[in-house]
Amino acid sequence: MCGIVAYTGGRQAVGILIEGLRKLEYRGYDSAGVCLQDGGRLNVVRAKGRLSELETALTFHSSTGTTGIGHTRWATHGAPEERNAHPHSSMDGRISVVHNGIIENYALIKSKLKKEGVVFKSDTDTEVIAHLVSKFYKDNLASAVADALTHLEGAFGIVVISANEPGVLIGARRGSPLVLGVGEDECILASDASAIVEHTQKVIYLDENDMVEIKGAEYRITNQARAEVRREIQNIEFSADQVAKGNFEHFMLKEIFEQPEAILNSLRGRLLLDSGTANLQGLNLLTQELRGIHRIVIIACGTSFFAGKVGEYLIEEMAGIPVEVEYASEFRYRNPILEEKTIVFAISQSGETADTLAALREAKRKGATVLGICNAVGSSIARETDGGVYLHAGPEIGVASTKAFTCQVTVLTLIALLLGRMRHVSAAEGLRVCNALQAIPGQIREILAQNDAIREIARQYVDHRNFLYLGRGFNYPVALEGALKLKEISYVHAEGYPAAEMKHGPIALIDADMPTVVVCPSDVLFDKVISNMQEVKARGGRILAVTDSTNGQLEGVADHVIRVPKTLSVLTPLLHVVPLQLLAYHIAVLRGCDVDMPRNLAKSVTVE
Ligand code: G6P
Repeated sequence: MCGIVAYTGGRQAVGILIEGLRKLEYRGYDSAGVCLQDGGRLNVVRAKGRLSELETALTFHSSTGTTGIGHTRWATHGAPEERNAHPHSSMDGRISVVHNGIIENYALIKSKLKKEGVVFKSDTDTEVIAHLVSKFYKDNLASAVADALTHLEGAFGIVVISANEPGVLIGARRGSPLVLGVGEDECILASDASAIVEHTQKVIYLDENDMVEIKGAEYRITNQARAEVRREIQNIEFSADQVAKGNFEHFMLKEIFEQPEAILNSLRGRLLLDSGTANLQGLNLLTQELRGIHRIVIIACGTSFFAGKVGEYLIEEMAGIPVEVEYASEFRYRNPILEEKTIVFAISQSGETADTLAALREAKRKGATVLGICNAVGSSIARETDGGVYLHAGPEIGVASTKAFTCQVTVLTLIALLLGRMRHVSAAEGLRVCNALQAIPGQIREILAQNDAIREIARQYVDHRNFLYLGRGFNYPVALEGALKLKEISYVHAEGYPAAEMKHGPIALIDADMPTVVVCPSDVLFDKVISNMQEVKARGGRILAVTDSTNGQLEGVADHVIRVPKTLSVLTPLLHVVPLQLLAYHIAVLRGCDVDMPRNLAKSVTVE
């Protein structure tokens, strides 16, 4: 979703803004713009489309100035046109603003301002902010922004600049993230740390309702009551290299290949081999409290939701605790029953997904203990939960989530193990899980070594417009995730189903044009899944099987077989999902799709 970068210091701002926006491209956008303070005036340059369009537009304008704001827009209110791109300015052009989020009461403010004679130039909700700040401006930008904030409802991260105050920028957040990078003699504000890390490792994650005034290296933060507050300076836990593609053609491929290392990082220090259990101190719960959990509710969106579905199978199997997984967007608007001893887990890679954040707040209002499973350190969800577990997967840039999924499943396995060991799992069984988990990174490397072969298989399926993905048990959510990956990046329709459910509807679709991808580890349900495959074959459907089975049973049934190493049944999702990620990746590349920036999608969905 929208990305913000703003700079004040001694260097020319335009290059820093453009490079920063490039780091935020992965969030998804359809237009971009910058505003530079040049002497006593503001120069705004905007363009529809990719950053390269903005760079072309900039060659026709003066772009000097050591203070500026930049933005990539993901359209919500108004089509992706230049006039709707940010920054938006006041009528006299002396105040400009960039904004991430949605101003929910913008229509009301807009009609009032129109009556006062304000002429609007865009269809956006954002433009009201520029006009409001201008209306309240006397001689101090910070107080004008503070006044404007009291009129805004909704979620936002904003940065405001004025032609009247050289070097000054005002940032504010409510609901949408804003990070302050503190350099030697400069400051950078951005929607996430990946746009800052190249310039400084020192950051402050602004709190809800904070406002910050920056000028050069000086900054002053105030809270909602506009009292000055101190916020802790933290170190960004990743390097600039980690947000670069390196030798890979796409971030998605890089991140698929990073999975062995990422999972090792998720496991690091968390396996207790002596006692066959997991050590998860971040949960902040006493043994007694963990023992007392009666029910678990998992809330999440997208890929995180499917990881949660794997978690449901894992926790119920290993710990015998009933688990419900719910889309955060549904949870937040119904009246969920959260009795005592129910623990809620919010799963989110970015830690900023608006629906998940709202759902966790609703759970907290009901008095539940809410724990987070997040990747982004210092993110809103990580900070608003009572405790939790970080993935430590490193930054995930590809819009289609891959390493976050396997790390989420790894962490959920650790949680299931910990809760299981407090109940019916023996030390010997626990140790078996620990040992098998430790082997997973090496086994994923073996799967990655088949990348070329998987690309060749992808080539044979590239022309189909519809796919069915089937799986059972632990791997039913893997089928769902495999189908989601294909849809997201190749725009090919794909549906995931529990294999046995196929006969209740989807079987009607099967023909030579509708291939079926079957996830079928050699577990207790293996023979039953083979029967489902026979049903597909009998109707002329092509079959691609992903399996750890080596007994030759699949050869006569499936058209193509991708093999993964054997592991414990509970860990099979961690291996079987990897070929599905690679399959989706190669089909998308072969179809000429922009894998890292798929159309219409955003990496971090900070609006409802
Ligand atoms: C977006 C992304 C998905 C992601 C989902 C949830 O839809 O495109 O890849 O799975 O948001 O994101 P989260 O950061 O909460 O895991």
